[in-house]
Amino acid sequence: MKIWWDGNININMELKIKNGKVYQKNRFVAADIGIEKGRITKLKKNLPRDSDEVINAKGKYIIPGIIDAHVHLRDLEQSYKETFVTGAKAAAHGGISTVLCMPNTLPPATTFNVIKKLNERKKDACVNIELFGGVENNFSEILRFGDFVRGYKIYMDTKSFSRNSLNESFNFFRENYENKKLKLVKPIAVHAEDGELIEKFGRENKICEIEAIKFVSGLAGKSGFPVHVCHISTPEGAETVKKSDLTCEVTPHHLFLSKGDYEYDNVNPPLRTKHDRLKLWENLNKIDIIASDHAPHTLEEKEQGASGFPGLETMLPLMLDSVNKGRLTIRRLIEMMCERPAEIFNLKNKGKIEIGFDADLTIVDMKRQVKLLGDNFCGKQKWTPFEGWKVKGIPTDTVVGGKVVMGDGEVV
Ligand code: DOR
Ligand code: ZN
Ligand code: ZN
Repeated sequence: MKIWWDGNININMELKIKNGKVYQKNRFVAADIGIEKGRITKLKKNLPRDSDEVINAKGKYIIPGIIDAHVHLRDLEQSYKETFVTGAKAAAHGGISTVLCMPNTLPPATTFNVIKKLNERKKDACVNIELFGGVENNFSEILRFGDFVRGYKIYMDTKSFSRNSLNESFNFFRENYENKKLKLVKPIAVHAEDGELIEKFGRENKICEIEAIKFVSGLAGKSGFPVHVCHISTPEGAETVKKSDLTCEVTPHHLFLSKGDYEYDNVNPPLRTKHDRLKLWENLNKIDIIASDHAPHTLEEKEQGASGFPGLETMLPLMLDSVNKGRLTIRRLIEMMCERPAEIFNLKNKGKIEIGFDADLTIVDMKRQVKLLGDNFCGKQKWTPFEGWKVKGIPTDTVVGGKVVMGDGEVV
């Protein structure tokens, strides 16, 4: 296959994807896709092969580009763990075309200057990167960077920044939207573990998450901004969200791993019992989206207790495998990994395959079987808690804005 991605955006190139089954309006249709200037311009059978590049997707499914609404691509002073460039390659390899980056970078993305720096790092990355700005008693900075971020992130899992601070932050957003210092309504994502309860009962106690989510749901309307709960890990959490105005996400590690299933299983929120994990699956219809919480640490750091796992390159294969096993439908997968993330985070022209939409597409082979191996990763960290897991169903091609960033399994 001719591959022309050279790290520079060349938006005049044309691409056609032929002979695949294309997900359109809730079903798969045999169609070709014509792409010009980064947009989908044609959707019909038998398009001529007259463009710069043609992908033959025979026997494969073409779904909207996967949106991972929760990743940590580090960079800056933690470039040894991951950079925007390596993290974007990991995303491309995982069939993901857009990632939303969380602000716990070093230095943290809580100031205008750091956000400006991170924004510049985006230009060398091969997938779409959106930034979240951190909220922690930095109100004057938020007023400066508000226009440059996709949303805001609040961590309420420390004693010094817990319930009261969340309350104050929500008031701040409401007041400053009303007085027009913040011009746009944007989603506020919350890491919902209660810092005070963690201190009292320990993080492992489910009550820390359950009570935090209850508290957030009680306050949610107060900010006037939509509030999203990150990485819920308890079935009780999912039930609370469902009864509220909140939206929420679940990670693959909370769906596939129980406490103790992996030697270095530390993650926040913690892995739960098998019983709770299976109940999360039963509650999947109460959860809006699936996100990886990609947290690249070195293995040495993991051995010393660092929390989190790399997840960009295993998320979609694990979920496609679950489709093959009948645990969810492909339709529900697309809803949770494409359509709903685009809606919740206001990503215009993304999440669907329609004329005029961005040409962000993921081509999947539902029949191909592979073993998940850290050695094959494109991210900086070459390990995974899913090492050796056999999965059926993988992304083979990732197209971002009409550019092939992974072709036939190879990241360009
Ligand atoms: O386990 C986690 N790791 N949870 C988080 O909330 C942050 C993440 C990280 O950045 O490493
Ligand atoms: Zn978190
Ligand atoms: Zn996170």
